[in-house]
Amino acid sequence: MAEKIYTLSQIAEHKSKKDCWLAINGRVLNVTRFLEEHPGGEEVLMEAAGKDATKQFEEIGHSKAAHELLFNYRVGVLQGYELEDTETSNNASFQEPKKKEMEAFVVKDNGVPKYAALLEFFVPLLVAGSYFAYRYLA
Ligand code: HEM
Repeated sequence: MAEKIYTLSQIAEHKSKKDCWLAINGRVLNVTRFLEEHPGGEEVLMEAAGKDATKQFEEIGHSKAAHELLFNYRVGVLQGYELEDTETSNNASFQEPKKKEMEAFVVKDNGVPKYAALLEFFVPLLVAGSYFAYRYLA
């Protein structure tokens, strides 16, 4: 079944607590029944109501579970987006996990300075040790 296409101005008509829509990654979502359940609070959702909230949603670094939750609230597609996954909702979740993988790389990167800090500590110690050993033996 083809999904309904909405424009941003159509979404902007749904920005009250009783009827709250927003768009994330080209998907139009009706989050009215999610407002109270959102772990980040309903205020942030209301601020994004009626708009394209992709940037805010991604900036928070929502979990994979949060990304998967999006499907429960889908009502259509944002105009200008052609989602290959409009028929098979399962595929769609594979678009975002890539970003998560990148975050994992960032975490791994953080491990390097720790190792470097260890070296920075031991190398001068070794040099000083060698110097005193030399002084003592000479
Ligand atoms: C339908 C859309 C959304 C869903 C399904 C959703 C889901 C979730 C979930 C499950 C969490 C818990 C933490 C996690 O699993 O990542 C969360 C936290 C949060 N969300 Fe959302 N969210 C949505 C939209 C938004 C938007 C548009 C914003 C910002 C404008 C937002 C801001 C936050 C914040 C600030 C937190 C708390 C993060 C923390 O405590 O560390 N969310 N959301």
